Amino acid sequence: MILISPSILSSDFANLEREVRAVAEAGAELVHVDVMDGHFVPNLTIGIPVVEALKKACPVPLDVHLMISEPGRYAERFVRAGSDLLTFHLESEGDAGQIIRTIHAAGAKAGVALKPGTPAQAAFPYLLEADMILVMTVEPGFGGQKFMEDMCPKIRAIRRECEKLGRAVDIQVDGGIAPGSAAKVAAAGANVLVAGSSVFGKPPYHQAVEAIRRDAQRGLLEAQRSK
Ligand code: DX5
Ligand code: ZN
Repeated sequence: MILISPSILSSDFANLEREVRAVAEAGAELVHVDVMDGHFVPNLTIGIPVVEALKKACPVPLDVHLMISEPGRYAERFVRAGSDLLTFHLESEGDAGQIIRTIHAAGAKAGVALKPGTPAQAAFPYLLEADMILVMTVEPGFGGQKFMEDMCPKIRAIRRECEKLGRAVDIQVDGGIAPGSAAKVAAAGANVLVAGSSVFGKPPYHQAVEAIRRDAQRGLLEAQRSK
């Protein structure tokens, strides 16, 4: 099943409550929250108090993407603030296995993210424990960048490894996802699609969400037929 997770990085920050309610009503299954520390990535966004406020306003689960240098230091607090799914980068500091266990113990699902330069194999040791692998399809830090099609083999390699292990791990993609790229990533094995500018920049939201979903479903069907 394809899940759409609109990234609020491209939303109207002065009206966050209205924005998250609108995308949930438009059919989005999750809402994606990008946390940046100005160190792991060259940009600053939002932190724990905003996640806490969003939790009260958002009708669907919060999918929180940490782009910070020390995820282990803040993971528990982000879960307590209301993250339903908390994703951190393998390229950041700390023991990834330990961070996954901290997230689980605090009561959320755990995701492991890979920057474009990190190979698929780096995720393999975590496929038994993590709930989701996030394959970045742009360099993290900013919305509105161009989709990197050369990430599709990485998605395929992770999906194949999950099948080998008999694990139904979610594979999320983030960066440049829109009708067109959605079909390609879904065909490669991604099932959770983050979309910022192609949803919040393309109202009405229900049409934007449906256009991405339809494209992904088409890609998935074509891939299944050609198997
Ligand atoms: C980038 C963020 C993304 C970003 C995606 O570092 O992780 O979630 O908002 O934006 P689009 O969909 O516009 O590429
Ligand atoms: Zn993100």
